[in-house]
Amino acid sequence: SSPALMRPALLEWYAGVHEARGMPWRKPFDPSLDADARAQRAYEVWISEIMLQQTQVATVIPYYNRWMSSFPTINDLAASDIDTVNALWKGLGYYSRAARLLAGAKKVVEELDGRLPDNAKDMEGLIPGVGRYTAGAICSIAFNEQVPVLDGNVSRLISRLLAIHASPKSKASLDLLWQGAQTLVDGATCAGDVNQALIELGSTVCKPRDPNCDGCPLQRWCLAYQISKKRSSWLDPLF
Ligand code: ADE
Repeated sequence: SSPALMRPALLEWYAGVHEARGMPWRKPFDPSLDADARAQRAYEVWISEIMLQQTQVATVIPYYNRWMSSFPTINDLAASDIDTVNALWKGLGYYSRAARLLAGAKKVVEELDGRLPDNAKDMEGLIPGVGRYTAGAICSIAFNEQVPVLDGNVSRLISRLLAIHASPKSKASLDLLWQGAQTLVDGATCAGDVNQALIELGSTVCKPRDPNCDGCPLQRWCLAYQISKKRSSWLDPLF
């Protein structure tokens, strides 16, 4: 089926580009890690995903590194206070994100023995500021759970892949888009890499304007690409 063919093409592309971006929170899933080490990975990915919610990758990297030096574990964060946390956040904006991280860490330490839930269903809603997207990102990357992500970039990419013309905000489109994102991770042996590859492809290749279709590993499966090619040849006076 198409997803089974698309995935290797997507992952091969991702393997060739992702190291260059030097994102410290990106580490391949390691099946030999025990539950505590996986929960630690989830903490790291959680911090990075919250920082990335409204801030660009290049800006986030030094903030992420400073944060991890100050709060290497979720217990260190939970033992801190809002002034310390806000000082580390200074310059990132949307300070409520920092307050929610602190509240989330306190909750996890008090109620869950310091371990973030190991699946998206339990994580979503339990941790302040963690919705379906963020829970999917954390759990696919840290636990290799086959759960989808759908942010603005992935939403645009899948809209084009499936030539969804309706508003990406409508209920019908959202259902289709989440289903498309789920289909791409179903059965994946490295769900976190699939999701990060989709985020990366959406933000660097399948851009809102001037998408680089010739640099896209999914071109041959992209319905929007095929339609636009057919349309331009049909309109060509020599056709
Ligand atoms: N934006 C949100 N999550 C990201 C990730 N894991 N990698 C790159 N950009 C992102």
